[in-house]
This record gives sequence, C-alpha cells and structure tokens, in this order.
Amino acid sequence: MQREAHLTNAALMARRRAAVARGVGQTHEIFVARARNAELWDVEGKRYIDFAGGIAVLNTGHCHPEVIAAVKAQLDQYTHTCFQVLAYEPYVELAERLNALAPGQFTKKSLFLSTGAEAVENAVKIARSHTRRGGIIAFTGGYHGRTVMTLGLTGKVAPYKSGFGPFPGEVFHALFPTALHGVSVADALASVDTILKNDIEPERVAAFIVEPVQGEGGFYIAPNEFIAGLKQIADRHGILLIADEVQTGAGRTGTWFASEQWPVAPDLIATAKSLAGGFPIAGVVGRAEVMDAPGPGGLGGTYAGSPIGCAAALAVLKAFEDEKLLQRSRSMGEALIAGLQRLAARQPAIVDVRGLGAMVAIELARTATPNSPMPS
Ligand SMILES: Cc1ncc(COP(=O)(O)O)c(C=O)c1O
Repeated sequence: MQREAHLTNAALMARRRAAVARGVGQTHEIFVARARNAELWDVEGKRYIDFAGGIAVLNTGHCHPEVIAAVKAQLDQYTHTCFQVLAYEPYVELAERLNALAPGQFTKKSLFLSTGAEAVENAVKIARSHTRRGGIIAFTGGYHGRTVMTLGLTGKVAPYKSGFGPFPGEVFHALFPTALHGVSVADALASVDTILKNDIEPERVAAFIVEPVQGEGGFYIAPNEFIAGLKQIADRHGILLIADEVQTGAGRTGTWFASEQWPVAPDLIATAKSLAGGFPIAGVVGRAEVMDAPGPGGLGGTYAGSPIGCAAALAVLKAFEDEKLLQRSRSMGEALIAGLQRLAARQPAIVDVRGLGAMVAIELARTATPNSPMPS
C-alpha cells in the first residue's frame, strides 16, 4: 500500500483536536486511507484487521463489490427526491423484502429513516400513536441511541447520558436479566411488575423496548423465557413489544433478525447499521395495523430512506443470499465460541463466553480472583 504523502496519524490527530468537538470520542488514533472487506490501511500505509466494523455496520465487509456497484448505478440515476415528495421503487422493494423477512404470521409494513436512533424514535412514535398511550418500559444496560428520547430509553448513564438531561418523561427501566450478575429471568420480570405497581399503570404503557442481544451493554442475550414472560405481560395489558435490532439485525446473530429466534414475534422491529453495508439507512418493520396508526405526514424525513441507502440495502440482501452469509454468521460464531472456550479453560480471567450467531463476547473478571464475575 502506498504511503499517503504528508499525512501522519499524529498530525491528523492534532488537527482533529483543534477542529472537532471533544465529545466525539475516538477509540483509536488511526486515520483510515482505504478499506476492503475485513482489512483497512491507515494514512501511514499500515495494514490492520478491522474488528470494529464501524460498530456492527460491516457484516458484508468494507466496500463489498456488489454493494458498491449498486450504489454507483444508483448514483448515475438519481440521488435524492425525498420519498414523501417523489417516490422511487428501491424503497418499496426494500419494504417488501423486510416485511417478508421479519418474524410473525401477520401482515407487515415498513418505513425507512437514516439512523438507528431515528428508527427507535419512530418505533416509539408509532407505538404511542397506535395505543394512544405514552409510557415506555426499557431495560437496564440497554442502549438505544444518542437523541434525547433514545438517551432517555438508554439504561446506562456514563458516558451517554451525562449532562444531557432532562430526558422525556414516561420512560421506565426494568432489570435486564443477566444470570452472571445475579439477575434471573424471574427477577427481571418481577421488576416489570414493580414498575407497573409503583410507577405507571399498565393501561398507560405503550410498549416494552428490548434488544435481543444487548450491544453496548455487553452482548448479554435476552433469554427466550424472558421474552416469553414479557410478551405475556404485554398481551395481558395491550402493551406492544418493540425489538431494537439496530445492532442484532442484518444477519449478525445467524438469522436476518435475531427476533426470528424468539418464541414470539415482536410487534415492531427497529433496524439500521449493517442493513446497507456501510451506507446510512434505518427502518421500522412491524404489524401493518400498528405501522399504519400515524396519519399521512406523521412519519418520514428529508433523507429518510435515501435511494442510495435502499440500493445498498438491496445489494446487501442479495449478497446474503448469494454468499450464504447467514450460514457463515452461524459457523463463524460456532468456531469463535469453541476457540474462546478453549482459551477460557486456560485463562481464569475469562468468566464467560457467550454469543448468538456471530455476535460473540467474552467477559473478563476485573479482580485478580479467578472466576469471580465482574461486579455489575
Ligand atoms: C441497539 C442500538 N440501538 C440504537 C442505536 C443507535 O443507532 P445510531 O447510532 O445509528 O443512531 C445503536 C447504536 O449503536 C444500537 O446499538
């Protein structure tokens, strides 16, 4: 790889520090020059394996050739009309494809946006519009985005919520089950009941929002008994179930949506990140009658469901079929878990190996005491 003349990571970091707001963090002091599949090269010509994938965005790798070709073809046709003003077929086709992929034996509809936080915001708007209720119950450790509503839903203060409140009212946090840290499924479901007794009557709750596998929260998997129990409470009180699949969607967990592995189908799914293999698009997919609750003009946005994003997402779906990527997600996950379990057998600091499909984590003990779980 050719070295970029005049550019060094250190010099660019100095310019970045002077020009870019401090709150935009940076994990690595590396500036990218080029990226392909799982590798990237920095401005100094150094080559890396990219384990970050732009935070769960590159399930089809950097610059998948078919995705790039689809985007180039779309660029030559038109780049923006605003779907609410002048519609285009790729948006409709993507909706048809995701409606068919989402779990649940009921008619579905979709809408598209630009970011994951926007998808979550819209799922909340749709749930409120359908139920005519305001309350939302989210879970500890959950992460739902950086807008004010999604920060309100996020169940983790530092660094996301610090200094940004107040957050919208009528949002409550129940316990997410993490057996490793002493929170059983029964404890988690009991904490929902406690909220419904102490904080808000069930008739005023619009939805539960839950990640099938908590992403930012530490790759904790929502156990199927927990989802089944939550759905029972939801059905008892006419509360909707929203799956935040912004991170778990697009094949990461071995199925297109992780909620396909749930014992019950969610009413609404928020999706984004890897959906378009590195191009910004997000969506909400769900029960048609719920999705249709907001009136015309209630949903949308200038760039929402851009033609570029739709074209890229359709190419990603095709790549998943052509290259059997769901199978690959499962086999990579199995290989990773087996290897990490072998490592854990030799390394007492590893207190847990867990995963769903290719969404795999190890948990390390913070203390020197072997096999003592990290305090939560
Ligand atoms: C589960 C989940 N929901 C929502 C979001 C927010 O998505 P975005 O950063 O695209 O707004 C994220 C991002 O990490 C996420 O992991």
